[in-house]
Amino acid sequence: MKTEIIKVSRDCISTEDEERLMRAGEILRMGGLVAFPTETVYGLGGDAMNREACSKIYAAKGRPSDNPLIVHIGRFEDIYQIVSKLPEAAIRVSKAFWPGPLTMILPKGEKVPYEVTGGLETVAVRFPSHPMARKLIIYAGGFVAAPSANASGRPSPTTGEHVVEDMNGRIEMIVDGGQVGIGVESTILDLTVEPPRILRPGYITQEMLEALLGKVDADVTMMQDNSGETPKAPGMKYRHYAPMGKLMIVEGNPRDVGTYINRQVFLDKQAGEKTGILGTEEQLHQYRADVIKCIGSREDEEAVARNLFAALREFDQEKVTKIYAESFSTQGLGQAIMNRLLKAAGHCVIRL
Ligand code: TXA
Ligand code: MG
Repeated sequence: MKTEIIKVSRDCISTEDEERLMRAGEILRMGGLVAFPTETVYGLGGDAMNREACSKIYAAKGRPSDNPLIVHIGRFEDIYQIVSKLPEAAIRVSKAFWPGPLTMILPKGEKVPYEVTGGLETVAVRFPSHPMARKLIIYAGGFVAAPSANASGRPSPTTGEHVVEDMNGRIEMIVDGGQVGIGVESTILDLTVEPPRILRPGYITQEMLEALLGKVDADVTMMQDNSGETPKAPGMKYRHYAPMGKLMIVEGNPRDVGTYINRQVFLDKQAGEKTGILGTEEQLHQYRADVIKCIGSREDEEAVARNLFAALREFDQEKVTKIYAESFSTQGLGQAIMNRLLKAAGHCVIRL
């Protein structure tokens, strides 16, 4: 299949942009697949009400079909067509954080095919804030199922180029809107349980949700590996985000981390490995390795979140075989950063 790649600006204001986006919407209406940017990461969209389109999404990603998809809406009122009940807490959450980087798990409405929900009686709903994404969803008919637009297992795409790497030749169209703003996927909040439970941490933090709702649980599998529990978001159980090289997180005070990593790098090089380090501005000066990536300042967690997936992909491009990453706090946005990093590392953490 030839994939058409088009560029559309984030705000989609010119007539040309508008026309291109309408064409993308038409492809979706016809049952085709279109990748597009959102404020979190790029999504791989298909018409959520079209069973065949949903099946094609799984095939294009190489994704197991028991892993449900998020339904994206472009107008709040459309939610009533896809859920059977909207609890009072969900309305409060939507007023506080929608449109924005938060997905709610709610009881599924009859119209939603089981191909979307992976056979579950619940549906994940997201109302993104990205202006172009919202327009596209409406042009597509209102309901777009969209997982992150990476090949299954790879880091989620944060630029149009990342999507081209993974999806070229597999889908009808890629809408390139440049680099996304947030860089980690939406927070997933399950509102079918009491108290509400975070299944995947994101930009809307546990602290923010607790300030609004009172007690909010976090799925125990979010930050741990061997808890023996199955994650409530089926997708969280799969190997994720992992670069091809072996990634290890090193936790400790900055000086010890530097000494440890440099010593390991020395040994790795003797063993013929290509070494990489994922670090922050504050600590970068102390490292020696083949490839050193800075993901921003410790003072600026938003930058760290935005740069994380791109850095993991770059290690692959440079064929790095051993990667050492600094560790981060698990408060606030740090929870989302560490959740992704832990998954990428297969929970391999060295505590000094
Ligand atoms: O930011 C995002 O959410 C991005 C953009 C494109 O919107 N999308 C995204 O989708 O991250 P995906 O498919 O990569 O991740 C969706 C996660 C999976 O872990 C899946 O198991 C979970 O949501 N999920 C979907 N429906 C669910 C449901 N009914 N119950 C529990 N978990 C669900
Ligand atoms: Mg994903």
